Amino acid sequence: MSGVDVHICEVGPRDGLQNAHHLMPTAAKKAWISALAAAGLREIEVGSFVPPKLIPAMADTGEIVAHARTIPGLKVVALAPNVKGFQRAVEAGAHKIGFPVSASHMHSVSNVRMTPDEMVAQVKECCELRAALPADKRPEIEGAVATAFGCTLQGEVSESEVVRIAGLLVEAGVDCIALADTVGYANPAQMRRLYRKVRDAIGAKLDGVHLHNTRGLGLANALAAYEEGARAFDSSMGGLGGCPFAPGASGNVVTEDLVFMFESMGLNTGIDFDALLRAREILVNGIPEEPVYGHFAGAGLPKGFRRGAAA
Ligand code: COA
Ligand code: ZN
Repeated sequence: MSGVDVHICEVGPRDGLQNAHHLMPTAAKKAWISALAAAGLREIEVGSFVPPKLIPAMADTGEIVAHARTIPGLKVVALAPNVKGFQRAVEAGAHKIGFPVSASHMHSVSNVRMTPDEMVAQVKECCELRAALPADKRPEIEGAVATAFGCTLQGEVSESEVVRIAGLLVEAGVDCIALADTVGYANPAQMRRLYRKVRDAIGAKLDGVHLHNTRGLGLANALAAYEEGARAFDSSMGGLGGCPFAPGASGNVVTEDLVFMFESMGLNTGIDFDALLRAREILVNGIPEEPVYGHFAGAGLPKGFRRGAAA
């Protein structure tokens, strides 16, 4: 986190490509990840360790992690849905492993075929397995409370259930917690209220949000979370993304736009705009059939824009 005011984790190679209608070739994924890192992204979720039959786009994650590990200073993140995924991620050498733990019972069963409590039990087992690893092989573990703001399958998700799951994850031994708006239902008032409630319950282990822009409120929600103290934000280049097991889920908040929002507020993201747009070109060339979104890429910087000059 050092040297930046807000920490952006690019999740496009995982959240984006898992939901794309086409496969990005392994070589293109590697080039994209290298370009993202060259633009200043210090943390990239490069893939997931799920059954390849279930999500073929993630079949090459082991090779992708190996590539990403060669990039100096990059924190390589992978998603795992269970103990087996955790073991595969550890073997591949992921620096950080994230678990999607849905607060919605229905999404949890749809996504990981487990209840939220069964999923927490998997995370606990992984934390125990980690403790038995040699110190230099122990990954960071993140619990992402998915569908925290509502669910397309179940509808409302109670805030007390989100607080309960977050508390159980902390007890299980995770290092950090993120609140995930998996289907883009959140609004800024709800974000403020829930972020505060969870932080009051678990403290500083809550450090970030994972936002989808399905109803256009991604940036507004990011700002609301920032104002409540969030400093870690997941986003996806070109606004790719969505959970294949949550009907109606669509893309993440757009990395390029999120970087612009924070930089224009005078906050340092450590990310270079020109290099970011070059990475976007590599993404588009790597998977040309997939539509990309975002405002900043088309509009560019305002005339006379100066980095670090807060309005
Ligand atoms: N990686 C690779 N293979 C795995 C695996 C993993 N993480 N977990 C299980 N498997 C294999 C098992 O070994 C078994 O193989 P076999 O048929 O050859 O014996 C098979 O998959 C079924 O295993 P099971 O434990 O019964 O899993 P399941 O069918 O109940 O599925 C999950 C459970 C969690 C593996 C699956 O629902 C999943 O991967 N969900 C994540 C979906 C996702 O990525 N969503 C988007 C991100 S939030
Ligand atoms: Zn997501």
